[in-house]
Amino acid sequence: MSASLSFEALQRRMTQHLDVPQNATAALDARLLLEHASGLSPTALAMQAKQDAPAALIQETDALLALRLTGMPVAKIIGHKEFWGRRFYVSASVLDPRSDSETLIETALAVLPKNVPLRLMDLGTGSGCLLLTLLAERPLARGVGIDKSRAALSMARRNAHQLAPNIRRRVALRHGDWLTDAPLNADEPVDMIVTNPPYIESRAIATLDRDVRLFDPRLALDGGADGLGPYRKLIAPGLQRLKSGGYMVLEIGATQADAISKLLAAAGFVDIARRQDLAGRDRVLIAAKP
Ligand SMILES: C[S@@+](CC[C@H](N)C(=O)[O-])C[C@H]1O[C@@H](n2cnc3c(N)ncnc32)[C@H](O)[C@@H]1O
Repeated sequence: MSASLSFEALQRRMTQHLDVPQNATAALDARLLLEHASGLSPTALAMQAKQDAPAALIQETDALLALRLTGMPVAKIIGHKEFWGRRFYVSASVLDPRSDSETLIETALAVLPKNVPLRLMDLGTGSGCLLLTLLAERPLARGVGIDKSRAALSMARRNAHQLAPNIRRRVALRHGDWLTDAPLNADEPVDMIVTNPPYIESRAIATLDRDVRLFDPRLALDGGADGLGPYRKLIAPGLQRLKSGGYMVLEIGATQADAISKLLAAAGFVDIARRQDLAGRDRVLIAAKP
């Protein structure tokens, strides 16, 4: 690339480089990568649009473009992703927070009362984006996040620390295999359990987009032969951990609503309802403990 390019010309060129068939988000990716490389806010970039970009910045953006063209998601390159208006740090050990999962947050917040103490639990917490968002939105709530991956837990811990001291003090992050660990079951019952477990059928993983298949941890994706393995393990013990009248809110794959609703009903949950993501696909189930 030429060393004399304005910031806006650089961003345009980055967008063109990223405009390949596998990438539907070239313009957004270019903006995020340029913000990251320059350390400038969107406003500062707009104000400097006509100024020459430093040669070192152009070189740095070339390196980032090369990474993105391997399929590495922008969040994995820049190390963070926005979720429900907040920044969450990510690494190779966690799933990047997905905008689809904001449907779970919307569903949970619609039934979580404000200004009362609440106890929440997040199974398979990963980056912590679900639990920490709910704790940020409900300042009197406390919560436990559980994950089988210690590396994911350390990322969730980092996110808890960076969000705000008043969140950090209200969260406990624990290593565990869903709800099989005895100490967890000795805790008080909770008002809500949220979970976004791995739900891809094992054999479908090879067919996923490169960005997901190569860069998200398999432990975060693989739901076993029919994709329902984790739900079978966590639904019945989840019911035991809830207060009467408490809710379980589950993210699901777009074709799994019927099968998982049956699992919930068989375990004894009532008022089972489904919610759709922005693309109109079934994405979340909510169910109550009688
Ligand atoms: C789809 S990711 C969801 C992460 C995060 N909650 C989110 O919504 O972005 C599933 C998470 O479940 C965790 N997990 C997989 N098997 C588990 C198990 N047996 N017990 C606890 N957590 C598990 C994975 O490590 C991963 O962090």
